[in-house]
Amino acid sequence: MPGSGPPERRSVWGIVVAAGRGERYGRPKQFEPLGDARVIDRAVATAAAACDALVLVVPTGTEWDGAEVAAVVPGGDTRSASVRAGLAAVPPEAQFVVVHDAARPLASKALFDAVVGAVRAGADAAVPAVAIADTVKRVDAGHVVATLMREDLVAVQTPQAFLASSLRAAHVRGGDATDDAALVEAVGGTVVVVPGERWNVKITDPDDLSAASALAARSST
Ligand code: CTP
Ligand code: MG
Repeated sequence: MPGSGPPERRSVWGIVVAAGRGERYGRPKQFEPLGDARVIDRAVATAAAACDALVLVVPTGTEWDGAEVAAVVPGGDTRSASVRAGLAAVPPEAQFVVVHDAARPLASKALFDAVVGAVRAGADAAVPAVAIADTVKRVDAGHVVATLMREDLVAVQTPQAFLASSLRAAHVRGGDATDDAALVEAVGGTVVVVPGERWNVKITDPDDLSAASALAARSST
């Protein structure tokens, strides 16, 4: 059972970051209903199934009323600051840390297992990546300035797994990035990719929640 057993046996810790303001959505989207639960409940349930113990990072002042987790801590002003707040609650004996966005409720347990497996195999970090189907262009003030070769571009998701020591080292200097793997890259760590999941959408605006609701209904039948 997640969260049970002596602490030294809990080697894979999950951090679910849920302290965002949801500015593009219009409100903190992680607390919106999705099927018979909330967005955040689904993310927490999958992370709990895949990890030995969980830290949940919530907006300051939030009283967590969902599934039991090892620790609930208030987040920071940026995603990276929220991850650091979560990491501070992960005990030193943790070997691996998996960071997951509460805003990705449809990631599968298999995806958590895949990123952890890739780090166990020797990387500092492992991230899920999917190919980009659209042509990608660089624009400046409404004008196209370049068309990028998309063959070597991927879109990256969470969950992202890390050797605990590598993630701590990457966060020591602070700094902000849209994902933690970027901080590991910045300090010279090896980051590998595993196949991402096409339906592991991140809820960003209300249309994404409509799509996720349809996908969740489909997968539960
Ligand atoms: N997050 C967080 N702390 C922050 C910012 C983001 O824990 N200060 C979390 C969000 O709750 C989300 C994940 O990081 O689960 C990805 O962030 P994003 O999708 O950008 O969510 P928000 O920051 O809430 O949305 P927006 O950028 O539109 O305000
Ligand atoms: Mg944000």
